[in-house]
Amino acid sequence: MNLAERMRQETYDGYTYAYPHKTAYRPLDPAVPLQDAWRAENTSRLFLYVHLPFCEMRCGFCNLFTTIRPGQDRVEATLQAILRQSESVSRAIRPERVAQAAFGGGTPSYLNEDQLSRLFQGLQQHWPVDFASIPVSFETSPGTLTPPKLALLRQLGVDRLSLGVQSFRPEDLADLKRPQPPGEIERACQWIREAGFPVFNIDLIYGNRLQDEKGWEQSLRQALQWQPEELYLYPLYVGKLTNLDRLGRRPGERRRALYRLARQLLLSHGYQQVSMRLFRLPGVQLETDYCCQQDGMVGLGPGARSYTHELHYSSEYAVGQPGVRAIIEDFCRRTPEEYAQADYGFRLDEPEQNLRRLLKTLLRNQPLDFDPGLPQLEELEQLGLAHKDPWRLTAEGLAWSDTIGPWLYSGPVQERMREYELR
Ligand SMILES: C[S@@+](CC[C@H](N)C(=O)[O-])C[C@H]1O[C@@H](n2cnc3c(N)ncnc32)[C@H](O)[C@@H]1O
Ligand code: SF4
Repeated sequence: MNLAERMRQETYDGYTYAYPHKTAYRPLDPAVPLQDAWRAENTSRLFLYVHLPFCEMRCGFCNLFTTIRPGQDRVEATLQAILRQSESVSRAIRPERVAQAAFGGGTPSYLNEDQLSRLFQGLQQHWPVDFASIPVSFETSPGTLTPPKLALLRQLGVDRLSLGVQSFRPEDLADLKRPQPPGEIERACQWIREAGFPVFNIDLIYGNRLQDEKGWEQSLRQALQWQPEELYLYPLYVGKLTNLDRLGRRPGERRRALYRLARQLLLSHGYQQVSMRLFRLPGVQLETDYCCQQDGMVGLGPGARSYTHELHYSSEYAVGQPGVRAIIEDFCRRTPEEYAQADYGFRLDEPEQNLRRLLKTLLRNQPLDFDPGLPQLEELEQLGLAHKDPWRLTAEGLAWSDTIGPWLYSGPVQERMREYELR
């Protein structure tokens, strides 16, 4: 289907969070020793990403790799396995310096204070990193926060605290199946502001079937009261095996109108648009550009992805709880030698590397600094979605990021994604 047709059908094909998508990964046989995978990489500016697959609830829309309300024994076993993996991986790739770190999930703030201290301490022992002097981002949910936990995170070096709010309106949260006791979100925002993080990010989701412009604007204005340095605005997706999917719920028809409303409102409040989803106040210094799609990214924890120029790898992926639990159990049983190799991933040849660079640049609202020789770019220009010299998306192009991104994926990646069987 060409792009104009896809646009006529109003398709939201997918969030190009990273290219290639993880559903294009396959077993690597033979497994690749990490020492070899990282040999040609510059290890002086690594991005360390730690994935903590625990949550207090399974939100209706969520297809992230996570387990729900695991008991302390499971959390402890996973934490210890992550630290064993951390030591093995560091030994294999011989890092020179970690320049950025992020903790995502799931909900990393599901860990208690003692576990958080041990996690940061363990990482500092294994990696050339001083969390106090590099940008560190950390994802949280309102129900897992307390003032002492926030104070500890700040003291451990977290600069960017991200809070999953999704909506300030109870009716949206009910429709999204994101249970949230009254007052919990506002209390968490207050505590975060009091803890003094330089960057406070709020995640919101728009486009549930009940949401109209008035409700969305109310929620956005409530977010703005906290003067967040960043706002991530996610159009609602209902992926396979999610609880909303099981209920047969689809997003509402108004996602595009809601996007336009939000963009206008945030620009009028002085925010700059970094991508279709990310809005940021000017002068925010952090280089966290929390896009997990840099090369030189070392992922730790089950579900984390790692990126070198030529190889992307991770553990396997699942959404359903039995699948997620089996993958985590396998992760916890691994030997130090197994942690030091990649057995599931995707090899990027030169055209795929260029395509990745192109997507990364265009979808982050940046001009292309190389000529990819890609005929599709002309089609973007004809549709008013990009200009030339240098190539850059227009504001309208940015609004269609979720259609343009997947349309540009290579044939082999699209085919693998189609063939992938989700469990
Ligand atoms: C790892 S979560 C954030 C932290 C925490 N787990 C929480 O939910 O509060 C990342 C964000 O992705 C967004 N997200 C996840 N699944 C989504 C979906 N199906 N549609 C739209 N946004 C989604 C949500 O805004 C969520 O806050
Ligand atoms: S949205 Fe956040 S809290 Fe909800 S299930 Fe997904 S990762 Fe967990």
